[in-house]
Amino acid sequence: MIQADDVTGVFADTAAVREGLAAVGYLADDKIAGVVSLAARLGKPLLIEGPAGTGKTQLAKSVAMMTGRPLIRLQCYEGIDESKALYEWDYRKQLLWIQAARGDETFSADAVIETGKGIFDERFLLTRPMLEAIRSPQPAVLLVDEVDRVDTETEALFLEVLAEHQVSVPELGRMEARHVPLVFLTSNNTRDLSEALKRRCLFLYLDYPSADREREIVSRAVPGLARELVERLVGLVETLRRLNLKKPPSVSETIDLARTLHLLGATDLDVTDASLVQNVLLKYRDDVQIAEAALAPRSWSKRP
Ligand SMILES: Nc1ncnc2c1ncn2[C@@H]1O[C@H](COP(=O)(O)OP(=O)(O)OP(=O)(O)O)[C@@H](O)[C@H]1O
Ligand SMILES: [Mg+2]
Repeated sequence: MIQADDVTGVFADTAAVREGLAAVGYLADDKIAGVVSLAARLGKPLLIEGPAGTGKTQLAKSVAMMTGRPLIRLQCYEGIDESKALYEWDYRKQLLWIQAARGDETFSADAVIETGKGIFDERFLLTRPMLEAIRSPQPAVLLVDEVDRVDTETEALFLEVLAEHQVSVPELGRMEARHVPLVFLTSNNTRDLSEALKRRCLFLYLDYPSADREREIVSRAVPGLARELVERLVGLVETLRRLNLKKPPSVSETIDLARTLHLLGATDLDVTDASLVQNVLLKYRDDVQIAEAALAPRSWSKRP
C-alpha cells in the first residue's frame, strides 16, 4: 500500500503548518493548522464546511503554495459527471484511428468491437482532475471545490478516489495513485453530504475568524491601512455578523472594504459614505435595512 508522504517536514505538526501557511499569506489558527497536519500525515481527505468567504478554497490553494505541489482543481457544479470529474474517451481520435486502420488489410472492425483492442488505449484517454491527481508523477493537492453542488450519484463516484486513491477504468483496469494526493473538499452545506463521503474524510468547520485573526488577515492583505481603521472595520463587521442577516459579511468582504478605504485614502470609518459600506459589505436590500436600523447613525452613516 502506498503511504502518505508527509509524515515529517512541512506537515510534521500544528506549528509547522501554521508557520508554513503564514509564509504564503494564509493565517490559520491551531484548529485549522492541526487538522491539515493530521490529514496530510494520515493521507485522509479533509472536508471543509462553513459560510461563504471564510477561506475554505484559499486554504487548499495555500497548502499547495506552501508545499510547491501542483494544485489540481475540480470545480463542482450541478450536472457534473464522470466525464468531467474522472476521465472520458476521446471519441474523435478513436474514430480517426479506426478510419486510418481501415486501410490495413489485417484490420477487423469486428475484432475491435469484440476486444476493444487498440481503441481503448491510454493515448485516447482524456484525464480529468480526479484521475489527473491520481496519476500525478509528484504528490498533488486535489481541491474538490463546492462538492455539495453535485448530486449524490456523482458524489458516490468520488469515493473510490477518496478512500482507495484509485480510479477504475473498465476498459483499462485499476489505476492506482503513485502518491497519495492531499485532498480538500469544500462545501457550503447547501445539502447534506452522504454518510459514506463524510466517513472517509476528516472534518473542519471553518467559521468566521476571531477579531484578532481577522485584523491580522486584513493588515496582511492591505498593509497600508492604519491600525485604528483596521480595528474599527473589523469591529463593524463583527457587529454586522451578530445581526440576523441573510448574507453576513465574510472575510473577503472585510478585505474588500479595507481595500476600498485604502484606495479612497480614508482615515476614519465615520467619513465613509454609508452607501460604500452597503455596496461592499452587504448584498441584500433587507440586510441593508436591518443594518441601518441597528447601526445608524452611530458608526457608519453620516445622517443625524
Ligand atoms: N485565514 C485567512 N488568511 C488569509 N486570507 C484569508 C483567510 N481566510 C480568508 N481569507 C481571504 O478571504 C478570501 C475568500 O476566501 P475563499 O475564497 O477561500 O472563501 P470560501 O470559504 O472558499 O468562500 P466560498 O464558500 O464563497 O467559496 C480569500 O481570497 C482570502 O483573501
Ligand atoms: Mg470557495
